[in-house]
Amino acid sequence: MSPLRRMAAFATALLTTIAAAKKPNILFVLTDDQDWHMQSLDYMPLLHKYMINEGTLYDQHYCTVAVCCPSRVNLWTGKAAHTTNVTDLFPPYGGYPKFVEEGLNDDWFATSLQQLGYNTYYTGKLFNAHSVDTYNAPFVNGFNGSDFLLDPYTYEYYRAHMTRNGAPPVSYEGQYSPDVIAEKAYGFLDEATTHDEPWFVGVAPIAPHSDVRFIKPAVFNMAKYAPRHAHLFKDYKIPRTADFNPDEPSGLNDTVIEYNDEFQRSRLRALQAVDEMVEHLIKKLEAKGLLDNTYIFYTTDNGYHISQHRMHPGKECPYETDIHIPLIIRGPGIPAGHTARVVSSHTDLTPTMLKLAGSDRPDLDGTPVPLDAESLANPASGEHVNVEFWGFAIPEGKFGKIGNESLPNIGGQAIAARNNTYKALRVIGEGYNLLYTVWCTGEREFYDLHRDAGEMHNLLDSDGAAHLAIGYTLEGRSFDQVISRLDSLLMVLKSCKSTSCHKPWGALHTNSNIATLKDALHGRFDAFYAEQPKVAFSSCQLGYLVDEEGPQHANVWDDDEVRGLPNTKQQTFKYYGDYSLWT
Ligand SMILES: *[C@@H]1O[C@H](CO)[C@@H](O)[C@H](O)[C@H]1NC(C)=O
Ligand SMILES: *[C@@H]1O[C@H](CO)[C@@H](O)[C@H](O)[C@H]1NC(C)=O
Ligand SMILES: *[C@@H]1O[C@H](CO)[C@@H](O)[C@H](O)[C@H]1NC(C)=O
Ligand SMILES: *[C@@H]1O[C@H](CO)[C@@H](O)[C@H](O)[C@H]1NC(C)=O
Ligand SMILES: *[C@@H]1O[C@H](CO)[C@@H](O)[C@H](O)[C@H]1NC(C)=O
Repeated sequence: MSPLRRMAAFATALLTTIAAAKKPNILFVLTDDQDWHMQSLDYMPLLHKYMINEGTLYDQHYCTVAVCCPSRVNLWTGKAAHTTNVTDLFPPYGGYPKFVEEGLNDDWFATSLQQLGYNTYYTGKLFNAHSVDTYNAPFVNGFNGSDFLLDPYTYEYYRAHMTRNGAPPVSYEGQYSPDVIAEKAYGFLDEATTHDEPWFVGVAPIAPHSDVRFIKPAVFNMAKYAPRHAHLFKDYKIPRTADFNPDEPSGLNDTVIEYNDEFQRSRLRALQAVDEMVEHLIKKLEAKGLLDNTYIFYTTDNGYHISQHRMHPGKECPYETDIHIPLIIRGPGIPAGHTARVVSSHTDLTPTMLKLAGSDRPDLDGTPVPLDAESLANPASGEHVNVEFWGFAIPEGKFGKIGNESLPNIGGQAIAARNNTYKALRVIGEGYNLLYTVWCTGEREFYDLHRDAGEMHNLLDSDGAAHLAIGYTLEGRSFDQVISRLDSLLMVLKSCKSTSCHKPWGALHTNSNIATLKDALHGRFDAFYAEQPKVAFSSCQLGYLVDEEGPQHANVWDDDEVRGLPNTKQQTFKYYGDYSLWT
């Protein structure tokens, strides 16, 4: 080889090495309260064109806490709400001050990405109670550039107050908040791409959240949309699915139903500003030649219900409307136009980003979402989603103000459902699709979504549908056997940490390869599961007060068989006190 050719070959090899070492950029769009079940995605043509058609739609993606602040902390830390203990919107149990108090401001996705060499930018809503009074007490860590919406104005579509890079709040009164956020996002994208380092840009507009004024009592009105979208979707109606305003015990009247349809139309119109922003952001990336090295995430903090199960607009429930949410990821190696049937949750997204950035974090409660065709075809992730909630449910909209309890710090909004603390579990595997919930009141719910997609027949309701459970079988096992397995799985997940969240059956069956509900349903475990302590509460609390949350530890099956010993203990089990010792 001539010296010149050798040099050229060397230069090529060097460039290849540099390209390989260049970590991918991450653009993350996070909407607020966007539904899947009322088909909001179908009303976002640009999201379809640039994200769904060009990336992968994860159609079994869940939030783990169906309300803004706890869900966002879960998403941005990769830790379950029971690990962060940020479980509410406002102190003492939640909000930005609680996030700081728990030490999370020093150790979350943003600080981690910076440590991995990223420049990081964020605009829009961060957490509740991140306000004109708390934004500097202390400042948010982990961003090279930031422009945050601040409470109490966060949810007023025409009265944004924002802090840029920690400066005193500036009012954007009269301007449309999602458009303000879009402009700031374009600016941060330009800033990020002037540097050599890989970058993260997060964009969190408030659409399609209700327009909320925190006067006393707080007023939750319809989302406001930009005048340019006012003409849209006049004929839209919320899909009349099986769960839509059932008659029993008594339905919402026509006035409310009509109001609720318009409520959703307003949300769809508000989302149009986001749809336009998605196009603009992607066109900018394309113009900069960066689409080949940028992963783009699109999701929302939690779902939303309107009229389903006879409920006024809102979230905070364990039903599909509230927890099953859109997730779309586009980027290098991700199949285009693909629908992934992988069970994933918001706990997994920080691990996913950190993995892209070159770091494995097995200490987190989530596991990375599969991205390329091969891992999508053979996902390592399990079949379970751990769902949890503490505190109030807030009915929104003008008919939602029922009840007469005042909630401190939220302006005295009348609250209908104070006893809204629960633990829930979604299990979606080969041959089954289940929701199991234990409420702080002692009520329990079980739905088999293969037979009852609308979650209408609670087979654990002793006054109602219990008779339906007679003769129920799953994988050839009886109803009681199924419930006993689910209860134990929930017992592990309700306080799981890292490994026991990733592989909860492994916490129940040490040294064994029990990995699914189907495995655990085997008859040799019947006595073991029958004897397990049950998930329970002794009272309804507004926060994670362990003493009120019943038994904490499951019994552990000691499987001698897999150690090659004769299996002499088939129907016995040992109590080891603390399953976390085995994880
Ligand atoms: C971004 O912030 C990190 C952490 O403070 C710092 O190391 C890095 O130099 C900053 N990047 C730029 C472009 O200023
Ligand atoms: C419908 O229900 C709402 C909320 O309960 C109530 O305020 C309204 O008066 C009812 N309208 C009719 C026509 O019954
Ligand atoms: C709401 O509660 C207050 C204080 O307990 C009471 O005075 C008032 O009558 C209640 N209002 C309704 C509509 O129940
Ligand atoms: C809330 O639950 C408690 C039990 O923890 C019960 O005493 C109370 O009546 C419940 N309140 C409502 C409004 O259901
Ligand atoms: C969660 O935080 C609340 C409020 O600070 C505290 O009372 C509670 O004990 C904490 N729970 C756990 C499990 O640490």
